[in-house]
Amino acid sequence: MKKARVIGTGSYLPEKVLTNFELEKMVETTNDWILARTGIEERRIAAEQETTSDMATKAAQRALEMAGVAADEIDLIVMGTITGDYPWPATSCIVQTNLGAKNAYAYDLSAACSGFVYALSCASDFLQVGRGKKALVIGAEKLSNIVDWTDRNTCVLFGDGAGAVVLEAQETESGILSCHMHSDGSYLDLLYQPGFGVKNPVSVQGIEERTSFLKMQGNEVFKVAVRSLTEVSKEALKANSFTSEQLDLFIPHQANRRILEATAKRLKLKDEQCYINVHKYGNTSGATIPVAMDEAYRQGRLKEGSLVLLSAFGGGFTWGSALLRW
Ligand code: UT7
Repeated sequence: MKKARVIGTGSYLPEKVLTNFELEKMVETTNDWILARTGIEERRIAAEQETTSDMATKAAQRALEMAGVAADEIDLIVMGTITGDYPWPATSCIVQTNLGAKNAYAYDLSAACSGFVYALSCASDFLQVGRGKKALVIGAEKLSNIVDWTDRNTCVLFGDGAGAVVLEAQETESGILSCHMHSDGSYLDLLYQPGFGVKNPVSVQGIEERTSFLKMQGNEVFKVAVRSLTEVSKEALKANSFTSEQLDLFIPHQANRRILEATAKRLKLKDEQCYINVHKYGNTSGATIPVAMDEAYRQGRLKEGSLVLLSAFGGGFTWGSALLRW
């Protein structure tokens, strides 16, 4: 049976760096607090006119270039994002046009920080059943537009960026071995964006009173995140009869260094088995995992035959994992 295999990775991070020291001048916080509680040192912020589709296009172009694949060879584009250029149409359709991927069909998927792993799962199924030969999977966010820059509880955590992978259907023992997805809508109030949707449409009041922007009860999210990331990682290993010792690289959603370390400890992983870059970019939601995959590959930490586990957790709540043989 065919499997979906990663044949190219790409990422794009905006130029502008926002450090903790700059945040000290914006809200009542300190570099020490942010570092101790999150491990984040700095994050990237997109330029005012720079859109999610702009960042996604650049990441996708780099992934296509690495794969040696022309845009018109792509059959499917799936993008995980909660910060699309417009409420509709899908931002992936804009990316499709930017790339010239005229033979693909494209859609966005809303699963917050799990968006990339959800999208990877859709594309993997699509290729496995033979509906196409090549797919582009993207995670891209401009969270700086939905963050409340007066709320120290949240604004220090997030950043902008994009990552992408090209998948190809191959007769192979490698590739995506399994995907496991979950959600539980009963946790909505712990992490969501109250405004700009149909329930609370865009309003001057919502913006002025800051009620429209991203809201999070961080410590509650923290506990469920660690539990869910651990469980869904174990689920992936068990389904494929692997132990955590056999993992070459664990690439979790980069939300907070403490969440990653607590999860790694529960999985009995060594430091060298875990990829962490949250200190450089903060939480870029659906973009964290593909950006980390691209960095890890380009640094030589992912080689042919490497066993790689991707695990994500985010608003919804949504969570999921994908186990890959590189
Ligand atoms: O992608 C998935 C979604 N998000 C996450 O996974 C994030 C999950 N949660 C977290 O990362 C952590 O809960 C935070 C980093 C958000 C907060 O860390 P915490 O250790 O859970 O702190 P806390 O929420 O319990 O707050 C402790 C104190 C509070 O003050 P009081 O009430 O104890 O006086 C906050 O007001 O820290 C205060 N605080 C801050 N102080 C300085 C909150 N944010 C800041 C800040 N600077 N930026």
